[in-house]
Amino acid sequence: MTVREVPDALPGDLYGKHRHDPGTRVLDAIATARLRWSSLVNRRDLRPRVDDRRFPVVVTERRIVAHDQDVVSLRLARPDGRELPAWRAGAHLDLELPSGRLRQYSLCGDPADTRAYRIAVRRIPDGGGGSVEVHDELRVGSEFVVRGPRNAFPFAVPGHGSPAERLHFVAGGIGITPILPMARLAHRLGVPWTMVYTGRSRDTIPFLAELESFGEHVLVRTDDEHGLPDAAALLPGVGAGTAVYACGPTPMTSAIVAAVRTMPEVELHFERFSPPPIVDGAAFEIELAASGTVLEVPADRSALDVILAARPDQPYSCRQGFCRTCVVRVLAGDPDHRENTLSADEHAAGAMLACVSRSHGERLVLDL
Ligand code: FES
Repeated sequence: MTVREVPDALPGDLYGKHRHDPGTRVLDAIATARLRWSSLVNRRDLRPRVDDRRFPVVVTERRIVAHDQDVVSLRLARPDGRELPAWRAGAHLDLELPSGRLRQYSLCGDPADTRAYRIAVRRIPDGGGGSVEVHDELRVGSEFVVRGPRNAFPFAVPGHGSPAERLHFVAGGIGITPILPMARLAHRLGVPWTMVYTGRSRDTIPFLAELESFGEHVLVRTDDEHGLPDAAALLPGVGAGTAVYACGPTPMTSAIVAAVRTMPEVELHFERFSPPPIVDGAAFEIELAASGTVLEVPADRSALDVILAARPDQPYSCRQGFCRTCVVRVLAGDPDHRENTLSADEHAAGAMLACVSRSHGERLVLDL
């Protein structure tokens, strides 16, 4: 998931010029379909409902883990020291920040450590405030509430649930967070694995020393030293029998999706930082029932974005249709549910995820 308020660890213009290419839109459609599949898989982890696992934690350690000082890692424990809910590689935690913001961050510690979680957060000054709050407000001793963990990026180890014979990981900047526990587990189990770890420069990528301790398994490839990576540079040696796990900016994962499509017998699993591009979007209107205010939703923007512009306090988190935080009730209209997270009964009751869903008709009336 990553997916969350996470920066593009690679420069915004690295692949940005491709974002409106027809080919990229097709790839993004594929990526979205895969993400929806991932959401389906994730639903298994929502039983019991994740909201039932809501508990306080305290920050027990705070470290800066990138040379540019913009990535902080926090170790979290229960205030009473009891064991924490178990988790598996790829899982994330929902943080209820003191401001009331809800933000999701991948767990990047060791699942075998039952007394502490570890997360890492890159500061994004213009990212909605969550990361800045984590950096500036959370200190050792700070207490807040978390939900989860839950897993939208499940990891299957070759020989232990996956038919693949080897693993290849691709991490873009802070995208290393869900990948790190996977690599550690593969290493511990003796599964053949490699990784390309990429970012703008060595100063910007977190946990560099931890990754370099894996020796030749990990290729660190930064833009300032090696230039912008293409898919071939991200997938060296990947062939039949390989399972690829990737986490990074949407353009990076889209490039990998395109490349893997041409590779027979290669599995691909990925998590991206940002909302999926809107495919086949049409403009529609939203009416806020309480005030009668009518908002225009352009073809290339989400309903959530438009609602947030009018109501900045509207809750949201993943922006990708799997966390349920942005759910709204439709009082009139014909919603186009572009997710597999809500059940048919919930849809029938009027629930809609504003971050991804749209309208079949000209207007939706929302209970806002
Ligand atoms: S913000 Fe997570 S489902 Fe919409």
